[in-house]
Amino acid sequence: MLEMEEEGLLGNSPAPHKRLQNLYHSRRFNLKAFIPRSRASVLYTISASFAGLFLYFIFFSSTGFGLLHTADAGEWAIFDNKSHPISDLPLLASEGLLELSIDELRERVSKTNGYFARDWSLSLGWNNMRYIIEGGLSQARLLNRTLVLPSFVYARACEFSNDVCAKHAKMVNRGDAVGSDEWRSLPLEKQMAWVIPLELMIDIPHLRAKHQFVTVSEYFRLQNITDLTKEKTNGHWDREFYHTGINDIPFRGHRSHVGVHPSLYKIKNGDYDPKTITLLDTLDVDSYRALSNTLTETGTQYDSMLLEKMKENRNRVALDWNTARDVIKDIANIKTDEDFEHALRLAGWLTTYTWQGAIGMEMTKTVVEPIRQVAPRSMLRGWVDQFYDKTEDVLLLEGEVHLERKPGFMRFTTTEARDQMGRIVLYDLRPPANVRDLAALVISRMDKVNHGRAWMAAHMRRGDFDRLGWAMEKTLQDHFNRLKRKLATARELLERLPTSDPHPYKIPDAHLNVELTMREPPKPSDSMYLATDEREEENLEWLRKNGATLFSDLIAPVDREQFGWPLLFTDIVALVEQQVIGYGSSYFYAHAMSSFAGGVINFRAANGCDERTGLVD
Ligand SMILES: *[C@@H]1O[C@H](CO)[C@@H](O)[C@H](O)[C@H]1NC(C)=O
Ligand SMILES: *[C@@H]1O[C@H](CO)[C@@H](O)[C@H](O)[C@H]1NC(C)=O
Ligand SMILES: *[C@@H]1O[C@H](CO)[C@@H](O)[C@H](O)[C@H]1NC(C)=O
Repeated sequence: MLEMEEEGLLGNSPAPHKRLQNLYHSRRFNLKAFIPRSRASVLYTISASFAGLFLYFIFFSSTGFGLLHTADAGEWAIFDNKSHPISDLPLLASEGLLELSIDELRERVSKTNGYFARDWSLSLGWNNMRYIIEGGLSQARLLNRTLVLPSFVYARACEFSNDVCAKHAKMVNRGDAVGSDEWRSLPLEKQMAWVIPLELMIDIPHLRAKHQFVTVSEYFRLQNITDLTKEKTNGHWDREFYHTGINDIPFRGHRSHVGVHPSLYKIKNGDYDPKTITLLDTLDVDSYRALSNTLTETGTQYDSMLLEKMKENRNRVALDWNTARDVIKDIANIKTDEDFEHALRLAGWLTTYTWQGAIGMEMTKTVVEPIRQVAPRSMLRGWVDQFYDKTEDVLLLEGEVHLERKPGFMRFTTTEARDQMGRIVLYDLRPPANVRDLAALVISRMDKVNHGRAWMAAHMRRGDFDRLGWAMEKTLQDHFNRLKRKLATARELLERLPTSDPHPYKIPDAHLNVELTMREPPKPSDSMYLATDEREEENLEWLRKNGATLFSDLIAPVDREQFGWPLLFTDIVALVEQQVIGYGSSYFYAHAMSSFAGGVINFRAANGCDERTGLVD
């Protein structure tokens, strides 16, 4: 059976298998193993490494069974001792979109005007990568281009000792791989990272059903480039090598694009959105056309008052709608929104649409608090207006553009355009099916821990935040006690929240999660779900004693076996935890400087949680 599995994999799709072998230099890497398909694939993964198997039992049993021993089994038996046969689920219809044939790829790409490439910052952690990808998908779609995503990302931490993870994925020195000295002062074992394929982090079939993109290795295949090891390890676009292949897609119907090296247009990083311009999706809208071309004396006066106020702003490229309104309220005799819109038109300022960042910063990239901002005509630039007509095969936006930027890395001229970007974050980019399945299982067990009552969750990031001095409190104990205080207040809130007056988040296609809101509120002694990157066993024990339930308390060895080796990576565990909190908890508290927290808030909004039940500060 195992032989057959291996046989089948080779027989059905020789190219991808070879491709991945080249790419990851790991005999054990099995692209499909993590997709629930058949028991055989699970067994294949496990049997692939005898050493791995041995380690599985050493490590996994100590965590999994540990709980069964310490927990009061009569009080709550969260493990029902059954394996969860997720592998028997029918195939999803969209699964065929994971691996595309060259013809399918060509067909999809030819429906666009060319490629849109980025210098991906693979030095960043997943949640930063995630929102950069979200922005890239929006930028590409606006230009009707195919986004080129990295084929792999780096997992940054192993749940066990590094050699365990190195048996399953190629291990590299992170600094060497991405060309950074950021981690050189750390102990060597903390400088390592593992190359993992993008499809471990993103539900690729689901995303493909909605967006046009290829990975770099697919781009290579389309260009007849066979050496897949040439994908740059730092995620940047190779301006030379990536243009040595042969394009055979007649973009925009032009035969002249075929049979030659793909051409390249570069948008210089400094030209994207310098502090002197306000970048919008497009200026091709009525609201822009309605702005006065030449200002009257009154208009000039409003304009200079608003400009003066905007200079006080940190970003200096836009002014909050209400702030702007207050500035000219008296002089323009503004009573209604219509009065203000009229005054703005006189002044030549446009209303734009974006989101408020948590605690006034742009670190969480949440899309749950829509706001309006205004900007002067002279500063406005349209992304589409500037770049839609470029005819080069590859349009490259050079360097990084996420810092201090809004989600989507631009503002929008209509609420519809903003909602389109919001939908990418809320509904289109989601973790793979196996991550969501495991999260559902963990949620059902956490429900049992608190006897079906609502439960609350917190995120406690220590690791790198501790090192950077960004952690909320110096010591783990203080940090945890702060979380407990916040959740004690939150518990009272949950008791008071009337089910008759729900406040879903202000997002497109919002709905209310009735099941969650109807639950009995937690009792003071109930356990909280704690997501953390703390791994010191002594500290974890302290946290458990003080009322925390951790991921490792809620899964059994059989769950790890079924999920397979990707669960060895802390990065994958974190992905599951975001789902657990986003879809299972009735309240969430975390730090506003963490993009992990931002991801959870976006999930909670999509899940129909009440907007008063999430706090990041
Ligand atoms: C699971 O197995 C343990 C040990 O055999 C047993 O004590 C416990 O009652 C079982 N739990 C359930 C829900 O059957
Ligand atoms: C790519 O290679 C295949 C097989 O060698 C060949 O049939 C095809 O014409 C090549 N495409 C281009 C664009 O050169
Ligand atoms: C996108 O580009 C393709 C190819 O040039 C074209 O056929 C299609 O109409 C374009 N779609 C949109 C929405 O502009």
